[in-house]
Amino acid sequence: MTGRKFFVGGNWKMNGDKKSIEELATIMNNAKLNPDTEVVCGAPTIYLDFARSKLNPNIDVAAQNCYKVAKGAFTGEISPAMIKDCGVKWVILGHSERRHVFGESDELIGQKVAHALECGLGVIACIGEKLDEREAGITEKVVFSQTKFIADNVKDWSKVVLAYEPVWAIGTGKTASPQQAQEVHDKLRQWMKANVSEAVANTVRIIYGGSVTGGTCKELASQKDVDGFLVGGASLKPEFIDIINAKA
Ligand code: PGA
Repeated sequence: MTGRKFFVGGNWKMNGDKKSIEELATIMNNAKLNPDTEVVCGAPTIYLDFARSKLNPNIDVAAQNCYKVAKGAFTGEISPAMIKDCGVKWVILGHSERRHVFGESDELIGQKVAHALECGLGVIACIGEKLDEREAGITEKVVFSQTKFIADNVKDWSKVVLAYEPVWAIGTGKTASPQQAQEVHDKLRQWMKANVSEAVANTVRIIYGGSVTGGTCKELASQKDVDGFLVGGASLKPEFIDIINAKA
């Protein structure tokens, strides 16, 4: 018994509209969700308020990004204060699409993590290696370095969930094997022990993301250091319920 509450986040990415969000919310609100699992849905910015109003209160909502300061002349950005003002408690930061499609640096992600936590948001902080990095045998080096930029900006780890998402597994239908996921999660926990503290290493939730489905979730969830999932494609489908209940 680890005391780490199972955590399942959905990342809707840039998908959906009011109609489909309402339909998904109805399915989720009426489903039997394992009460021992914390559930968070990552909605597009423009639908944060709408998603919050449609989902039951036991289902949290997350923004998929935010900026590093509270307000100002930053056209197109949103702040943690605005996210909180919509009743939303979480933000996903450092997602691979932010890193690799929009060019966000480790430094910027660290600054965003610091500010979001200062404002009282929970942070789902994402890390993960690209295929060429895995093939070059530098997976650990990459994820440890990404984790350090995040860790240097965290004071209260109880508000942080670390999401290991190998880039080669995201949106590709190529889920990491349970062994591959467990191996990196274990290494990350060891890194936390050596670089943060044993207490944090034991309590921080490390979740896996990358083509998780209703079919792959149970075996992944049975791994010792897999404390939940960040789910993209499957979070838009009724199958998300099965993933939430992977531990049931
Ligand atoms: P996927 O996305 O489940 O569609 O691979 C995961 C993610 O990007 O968080």
